[in-house]
Amino acid sequence: MADKLARWRQLDRLFAGRYRRSQFEHANGRVLAVACGTGRNFRYLPSASEVVGIDISDAMLAHARTELDGLELDGTVNQMDSQALDFPDDSFDTVISSFSTCTFPDPIAALHEMERVCSPDGEILLLEHRRSDVAPLAWLQDWRAEAHYEKNGCRLNHEPLETVEKAGLTVENAATAFFGLVTTIDATPR
Ligand SMILES: C[S@@+](CC[C@H](N)C(=O)[O-])C[C@H]1O[C@@H](n2cnc3c(N)ncnc32)[C@H](O)[C@@H]1O
Repeated sequence: MADKLARWRQLDRLFAGRYRRSQFEHANGRVLAVACGTGRNFRYLPSASEVVGIDISDAMLAHARTELDGLELDGTVNQMDSQALDFPDDSFDTVISSFSTCTFPDPIAALHEMERVCSPDGEILLLEHRRSDVAPLAWLQDWRAEAHYEKNGCRLNHEPLETVEKAGLTVENAATAFFGLVTTIDATPR
């Protein structure tokens, strides 16, 4: 998927750019970008940020490194499993992640790890797709869910807010957009 996603960069900017910007432009201090993929969110971070991107896929990280090199941003990227982050507790001011909990084998474990490495007064900022509130769209998502998961390893009709609540994080703010297909969630550690 990595090369394909990298080729879709303009399309992504067109459809997801505004959500990425509004969700991540206020990320503060030392930022961990979990499952950073090809590094799509890096350009929306404040230039004063220090970013650490992690992803399980080296192919994704190769693109993320190129993205980082083209920006005036202090940062590194590392291969790592989001469900077992190799960082001490409380090491980041902000943890960000986008379109990722749909792909983690154990999203609750990944959210617990995000919480663990986030400082107690820090923030966990998520941007996710979700099962739409618009009935025909939800029906389509349900209909395609199994085939989409087989092909892309992504749960098309998942409910990220429910997962975040199940993980026990404190939800400070949640909003939906784009026919209910997109959600932003601001959470804090317990
Ligand atoms: C749909 S992509 C989203 C990438 C990026 N966050 C974005 O918004 O463009 C999902 C990403 O999750 C990564 N991923 C899946 N399972 C992972 C895991 N256990 N740990 C870390 N990254 C993982 C994939 O390699 C992929 O880059």
